[in-house]
Amino acid sequence: MRLTLHVWRQPAAAAEGRFVTYDAPEISPDMSFLEMLDVVNERLILKGEDPIAFDHDCREGICGTCGMVINGAPHGPRRATTACQLHMRSIKEGDTITIEPWRASAFPVVKDLVVNRGGFDRIIAAGGFISAPTGSAPDGNAIPVPKADADLAMDAAACIGCGACVAACPNASAMLFTAAKVSHLGLLPQGQPERESRVLAMVAQMDAEGFGTCTNHYECEAACPKSISVEFIARMNRDYLKASLAHRPRAAGGGGTG
Ligand code: SF4
Ligand code: FES
Repeated sequence: MRLTLHVWRQPAAAAEGRFVTYDAPEISPDMSFLEMLDVVNERLILKGEDPIAFDHDCREGICGTCGMVINGAPHGPRRATTACQLHMRSIKEGDTITIEPWRASAFPVVKDLVVNRGGFDRIIAAGGFISAPTGSAPDGNAIPVPKADADLAMDAAACIGCGACVAACPNASAMLFTAAKVSHLGLLPQGQPERESRVLAMVAQMDAEGFGTCTNHYECEAACPKSISVEFIARMNRDYLKASLAHRPRAAGGGGTG
């Protein structure tokens, strides 16, 4: 395959960025999208040029590290597919591909296609934990969990924290990510002690990070490589409302969560 790439190049966070055009010949349709970028980078290095910076780790769709907007779509044209799982056979011979970073003020560009997703880490740190002692693996039936709740919690836990939902949303909202993280713990018995404080703290942190609010465009669900449902946003909103009305902060030295 021979492709033309328009790639966002930005040498540093404070530097001005611009699109640079690259010719990409001899690309195998069996390569992943990231392998295609590896080949382009090897050629840039051989020419003494700066390779294109992009985030990646597992390259099997489970870590959430990769992320770039490919022809206007976060993670590219295939539904429920991360950029690392996208193969060049999904792209037509001779195509021109525009590649740019997530665009959201809460995800500032670090370099080229790499953005700082520390805002997500801080949302998790605000409440994405349980206080129940975990210890060694408990007996499977020690804490009964209804099958429907277990399945729903598992669906929410599939979120890999990639940020495509933010990139796809016209408001750069992090509601789908936050809702998934609130829900996978809030649906299970072990997550109940902090259920109220968790949703209040994580939503407050989400707002403090400068993510926008949800106005029901549903672009997040469409772009999500793990098909996280917007139903989780509705669930988080219900939890948030209940917690806002009922929550009593835990008193020093003990006390309940209201
Ligand atoms: S909800 Fe989907 S798009 Fe958003 S961070 Fe999680 S996996 Fe990525
Ligand atoms: S590199 Fe891990 S999900 Fe893409």
